[in-house]
Amino acid sequence: MNEVIKNMLERRSVRKYKKEQIKEEELDLILKAGLYAPSAGSRQGVLFVVSQNKETNEKLGRIKKAHFNGRISDDKIYISKEQPSIADDVTIMNAFYDAPTVVTLFAPKNFVFAESDCSVAAENMLLAATSIGIGSCYIGSAWESFDDTFGQEILKKWEVRTDYRGVCHIILGYPLDEHKPVAKPRKEGRIIRV
Ligand SMILES: Cc1cc2nc3c(=O)[nH]c(=O)nc-3n(C[C@H](O)[C@H](O)[C@H](O)COP(=O)(O)O)c2cc1C
Repeated sequence: MNEVIKNMLERRSVRKYKKEQIKEEELDLILKAGLYAPSAGSRQGVLFVVSQNKETNEKLGRIKKAHFNGRISDDKIYISKEQPSIADDVTIMNAFYDAPTVVTLFAPKNFVFAESDCSVAAENMLLAATSIGIGSCYIGSAWESFDDTFGQEILKKWEVRTDYRGVCHIILGYPLDEHKPVAKPRKEGRIIRV
């Protein structure tokens, strides 16, 4: 099969990571993939902030988890049994799953395509990570992670413009499990050919 398509089909969200940090050249490649994503009006407005500070990532991940008020999984409805999410396992306190690298994608507030721009860049990064054996997961609603005094201080420290807001995080690290998570079967009836 075409390698690009194979990579897309094999990408899975990883939520169990080794402590070991990923290599600089691996991170650079993933960031480059993000930089080359499409952007509305060719504005290239997305800002990528890389944090490999364990303490900061853990604090932000805890703030994020504290904001979680989604559905809690049960035996029938769950996100992943192999790589449990915070909805699957309520004992997980860090919404970044202790991943050693957290990249936050920011885009201008009040820009109609802010989420779209970040999402396409994010997918490029997830696929780039998969292609070189790095585990990754998309973490949505990044603005929640900065929604307290600590988060606001971090944004100042990172020198993120106040007219930008966090859209999503991409967490990265070496997968703890050797075997790859299996995709859920695809729901039928989602393609309409007219
Ligand atoms: C917009 C969006 C937001 C997501 N937010 C989270 C999140 O906050 N936490 C998490 O563990 N996974 C999150 N995910 C990952 C999904 O749970 C995951 O993609 C889905 O369960 C399908 O699994 P797969 O990625 O292995 O195919 C998010 C994915 C998307 C597209």
